[in-house]
Parts: sequence; C-alpha cells; structure tokens
Amino acid sequence: MAARIVIASGKGGVGKSSFTAGIACALQNSGHNVLVVDCDIGLRSLDIILGAGADMLFTWGDIIAGRCSCDDALTRTNCGCSLLCAPSEFEECFTPEAMRSMADEYEERFDFILFDSPAGIGNGFRLAAAAADSAIVVATPDGVCVRSGAVAADSLALLGIKNSRLVINRFDKKATIKGKRLNIDDVIDSTCLRLIGVVPQDNVLSFNMTCGRLLPKRSPSAAAFSRIASRLEGKRVPLEID
Ligand SMILES: Nc1ncnc2c1ncn2[C@@H]1O[C@H](COP(=O)(O)OP(=O)(O)O)[C@@H](O)[C@H]1O
Ligand SMILES: [Mg+2]
Repeated sequence: MAARIVIASGKGGVGKSSFTAGIACALQNSGHNVLVVDCDIGLRSLDIILGAGADMLFTWGDIIAGRCSCDDALTRTNCGCSLLCAPSEFEECFTPEAMRSMADEYEERFDFILFDSPAGIGNGFRLAAAAADSAIVVATPDGVCVRSGAVAADSLALLGIKNSRLVINRFDKKATIKGKRLNIDDVIDSTCLRLIGVVPQDNVLSFNMTCGRLLPKRSPSAAAFSRIASRLEGKRVPLEID
C-alpha cells in the first residue's frame, strides 16, 4: 500500500514544490517507487523542476475527464520518479472523490504518492488533500509563513488528515542567531506540529531546480532531503542543522 502524503503550506513561495521534488528524488534513490502529483492547476512547476517538461503529453485532469489512461499520463523525471502534471484549467469533474479514485489506481504500483498542493486553502488545496492520508506542512521561519502553516494544518485536520508533520525550509543559522528569523522552537510552538526535518537555505537548490537539474548529492539541501526521506521510511535519524 502506498503512503499518500500531501505537501501544503497555506502561503505561496515557501518551497512546497522544491521540497516535493527533493523528497521524491531522495525516496526514489533509496529504492522506492515514487509518484508525484502536481496539484497546482494552471500554475504547474514540477515538470520543469523535475526536468520532465518535453515529455509531458497528458495531465491528471485528462485521466479524470476520461481522455487518457493512468499509464498514458505518467511522465518520467530526471531522478526516475514518475510525475502526473497539473492540468492548465479547472474542470467540473475535478472532485475530491475523482482524485481519490485516481490515486487508488496507482496504489499497487507505488510506495509513495506525493501530492504537491497549490498555495491557499481553497479548491486546489482540497483536491490535493483529498486522496492523502498524511501531510507535510512546509514553513519558512517567519511569522507570516508560520501562521499560514498553522491555518493549513487546521484545515487539513478538518478534512480528516490528523497526521501532519512540519518541515522548516530555508533555515539560515546565521540569520537566526542574529534574531532576523524565528528559531526552530518558535516555529514548532506556533504551528503545534511535530517536526520531521529542517532544510537549509541553499542557493544550489534554487539554481538547479529552476532549470530541472538534479541536486548534487553533497549539497546541504540534498543531505537534508535524504534524512527526511529516511524518517518517512520509519528510521530514527538525529536532527542535524546544516
Ligand atoms: N531551501 C531553499 N533554499 C533556497 N531557495 C529555495 C529553497 N526552497 C525553495 N527555494 C526557492 O524558493 C522559490 C519558491 O519555491 P517553490 O518550491 O516554487 O515554492 P512553492 O511551491 O511553495 O510556491 C523557488 O525559486 C525555489 O528555488
Ligand atoms: Mg508550488
């Protein structure tokens, strides 16, 4: 049975899609079959981030609307995980039930199905959460983002997802020591979520992902993704702040 995880944040631009790509590649590299579902209707990004752009023919919207099969819509990515691209427009047939039925079709073939939520807590967010059984809330260590992360976690709980974990993204030790960013304890206290990992501010990530290149294995963010992937596999990995 696949673990189905929605990646959410409330606020946009905090690193949900980058995190989804990083964790998908880390899980795939450790031998799992991973499916990523880009749920950002009209603003898809994971085809570029995961270096899959040119191959994309169908989207998950085409599956739900009956225009293609589940196999037709799967796109291969640079790290070997599979991707379902987001449709460019919303259609009436995109319902939570349809998302769940579609995810059920992939259940046997994948170990992890990751749903990358759009910003906000509206329709797209609800569709992304519909087929998930747990969540990862991504927050950068600042007041606005932490508050929207807490709202997203509350909204997920109302949708029936009680198991939400926290990822602190773009952590910058120097800025935190200078008091320019919230510290890790503050973010945990404000969101009331269990921490599953901390991803450092990493300009290599920003450069590589925006042009669909794999992260170098030794980059600080790749190491963080690999530790978080191990925790998702149920391993006990000490928290390391790069
Ligand atoms: N850990 C990080 N270090 C540096 N840049 C990051 C990090 N995480 C995300 N970014 C950058 O932040 C921007 C927004 O990221 P993205 O994943 O698209 O956010 P979201 O999906 O939440 O809107 C991108 O330019 C991305 O490269
Ligand atoms: Mg995104």
